[in-house]
This record gives sequence, structure tokens and C-alpha cells, in this order.
Amino acid sequence: AVDRTAADIVERVVRAGPAANPGRSAGSTPVLGLATGSTPVGTYRELARRHREDGLSFARCRAFLLDEYIGLSKTAEQSYFSFIRQNFVDHVDLDDAAVFSPDGDADDIASEAQRYDAAIAAAGGIDVQILGIGTDGHIGFNEPGSSLRSRTRVKTLTEQTRVDNARFFDSPEDVPHHVLTQGLGTIDEARHLVLIATGESKAEAVAAAVEGPLTAFCPASTIQWHPHATVLLDEGAASSLA
Ligand code: F6R
Repeated sequence: AVDRTAADIVERVVRAGPAANPGRSAGSTPVLGLATGSTPVGTYRELARRHREDGLSFARCRAFLLDEYIGLSKTAEQSYFSFIRQNFVDHVDLDDAAVFSPDGDADDIASEAQRYDAAIAAAGGIDVQILGIGTDGHIGFNEPGSSLRSRTRVKTLTEQTRVDNARFFDSPEDVPHHVLTQGLGTIDEARHLVLIATGESKAEAVAAAVEGPLTAFCPASTIQWHPHATVLLDEGAASSLA
């Protein structure tokens, strides 16, 4: 049900076009913000099914990823550049050249970060941003303590996030320490945030994000001040809510 509901939201933006959003002109291309990691995989599978069976077309869309590891080549299996292709882009008619991600292998990471924010702005901003949540409350890779107005920049992963993500790598030591991630300020500019969480391991982070104070210690709590945020949870992820 979570996957279908998230897919419904994305489908509405893709079919109606961004003109349905305030501040966007008719004829501009829908801009999708895509998270990687396990959580949205079911949503992407559902969107690919709708593409195959219901003719849902992404041909007019552009997409921006939230983040990328630093030090992995784009083509590495664990890079988010590869992940989004394996799990979504290769299964729909979204033009590969219209899918953008921060280049964690760039020689000049600071200018790459600025270039990425500028590219999002030049595309007209993100219409709908899919988000997962880390067990430590991160969104994108904005770990606890991230500045609330931060832009795309380098962050150091917490040990908890490296342990959580070790399942994607041959050995836990292979998980990179650094990432290039959209900032909390960047994410906050998307017109609609859709935070998805499933499973009990996310319950405490979800409760802190939704019912706790708005604080940099729980970066996902910044969704509380967003004018249009949707939180989609299964029973496990909702189990610590009051
Ligand atoms: C991934 C991302 C992260 C993940 C989060 C949850 O692009 O930005 O914030 O959404 O780490 O990961 P999963 O879904 O693997 O539990």
C-alpha cells in the first residue's frame, strides 16, 4: 500500500505536469527527486509496472538524485548512479541523459556541489521529492547536526549509517566515509516531500521526525516546516508514534 500510494503521488505529477504546482508554468518538464537505498525500491517497481501495463510515460521528465558516495566510480555497482539505473531508470522510458546525480568522483568536489544546486534551480526546482530516512534520522545524507539551511556539500557518514549500509558492500570496511549530498535547505525547496519508511528499525527515527522537536539532531524533523509534506509508513515504522 505504501508503494502504491507513493507511486500515485509521482504519477499525478508525471501525468498532470508541473503546471499543477504553484509557481510552475505549463509546458515545463516534470522534475522528480529520487532517493536511493532499499525503501523506495517497491515504489520504483510499481512505477515501472504502470509504465509497462498502463502506458505511464516518463519521457518528458527530468530527475535528480539526493546523494552519491565520494570515492566510488559512477559505474561501481554500489554507486547511486548505478543503483537508480538498475532499480528504476532502465525499466522505464526516462531518458538516461535526463537523470542527474552529484559526481562523487569529481576532481573539485566543492564546485561540483555548487554546480549541482545550480542545475536543480535551472531545471525549475524539484516537483516531488521521494525521501527515505536513516535509523539516525538522516534524510539525503544529512547526518545529525547538519545545518538546517545547508546546500549540497560533503558530509561524513556516521558509524551507524556505515553499518546500516554495509549490506550493499562486500565488506563493512568498503563503505565510503564521505558523501556528496543535497543539503537540508536544498531538499526543503522541493515543492512536495514524500517521506517513506517501512519496518520497525525506522520507528524511533520516524517518531523523532514527526512528533519530536524540529532540530538538527534529527534532520528529518525539518519536514515539519515544509508546506507540503507527506509521510507514508507501514505499521512497523509507525509503531513508536504516540
Ligand atoms: C538515499 C538516501 C538515504 C536513504 C536512507 C534510508 O539516497 O538519501 O537518506 O534514504 O539511508 O536507506 P534505506 O532505504 O536503505 O533504509
